[in-house]
Amino acid sequence: MRKVYLDHNATTPVHPDVREAVAPFLSELFGNPSSIHWAGRDVRKPVEDARQEIAAFFGCQPLEIVFASSGTESDNLAIKGIAFRKENAGKHIVTSTVEHPAVINTCRFLESQGFRVTYAPVNRQGIVEPESVRKAITKDTILVSVMYANNETGCVMPIEEIGAIARESGVLMHTDAVQATGKIPVDWKSLPVDLLTFSGHKINALKGAGGLIVRKGVEIEAVLHGGHQERGRRGGTENVVGIVAMGKAFSLLRAGMEQEVRETRRLRDKFENALFGRIPELVLNGHPARRLPNTVNISFRFVEGEALLLNLDMLGIACSSGSACTSGSIEGSPILMAMGTDPVDAQGALRFSLGMGNTDADVEYAVDAIEAVVEKLRAMSPLGVKEAKAR
Ligand SMILES: Cc1ncc(COP(=O)(O)O)c(C=O)c1O
Repeated sequence: MRKVYLDHNATTPVHPDVREAVAPFLSELFGNPSSIHWAGRDVRKPVEDARQEIAAFFGCQPLEIVFASSGTESDNLAIKGIAFRKENAGKHIVTSTVEHPAVINTCRFLESQGFRVTYAPVNRQGIVEPESVRKAITKDTILVSVMYANNETGCVMPIEEIGAIARESGVLMHTDAVQATGKIPVDWKSLPVDLLTFSGHKINALKGAGGLIVRKGVEIEAVLHGGHQERGRRGGTENVVGIVAMGKAFSLLRAGMEQEVRETRRLRDKFENALFGRIPELVLNGHPARRLPNTVNISFRFVEGEALLLNLDMLGIACSSGSACTSGSIEGSPILMAMGTDPVDAQGALRFSLGMGNTDADVEYAVDAIEAVVEKLRAMSPLGVKEAKAR
């Protein structure tokens, strides 16, 4: 069966150059980077080289990077790290309604610990409006955490404006840039941001490695207590393989991101235009322009997203629905619901995210398959397109 992978926002295939770069670390380069003997030194240097490479990509200082086990851990470290360090200054955090669970559930945990959290709304197109963040800030606020780009809709948030508002108010700013990294330029030097999360497996490196950039001078409380690794900010022997993989992936992005993104955008636009041209009753979820170049989220009216996803899976097409099955009924994605999407449209939504390895032939195969499956499901639906239109 032909396989077409259109779920790069969930995870990405490992780049062949990354695979090659990590191979020695699965055999002869096995040391612990904290050891002072040759075996340790053999791996300490590659870890620090990777740090340099990542710093060069973002434009930050190498020592501003704290390696962690994932985007999730880095989000935890940013938010809990500031909350517990600054709780004497205030116990209020501002975030948004469309954050990844790594942020939302960290905030929910902090609420159980006596912090107050304001979830700034998004507009109908899924964008956090800077003014809503301004309104939410109080004199008790210690942190604003708003994602750079949304994983489900691809919406790119006005992080410069939101960060500027946080700065004006003397509040620290965190952004989860897990989805933005490698897809749009992220320039640490010009961003009014104090903490920034990235993750390896979204950029063709390995799962289980990520990091947090912490602006020089900003102090955070450790979340993982242990050894002195990462200058006491994150205990635990470094994931050498994961870090070396990220170093290589970032060096590849530095060399070829523009071209890679141009090609992905071309394929995404071709895919999107073909779907909208050939299938009636589609709704684009999210902002048409302020959007990651690889992502498209579409509601297929009169079709259940899960049914469409499973039928496409049987044809070898991997994509994603943000909906969840709760007590037997399918609930639309919380992100789409937070945007004010019609609940029925939210149930019929699928996310397609393109990336390395996708081809014109993939797009053509997927469009044909989606058209056929949607037609089949709509014909079976108690509320077919024709009847619905006639209502
Ligand atoms: C926006 C966003 N933040 C955080 C994460 C979590 O990253 P990780 O899978 O590395 O824990 C993801 C992954 O889906 C994401 O999309």
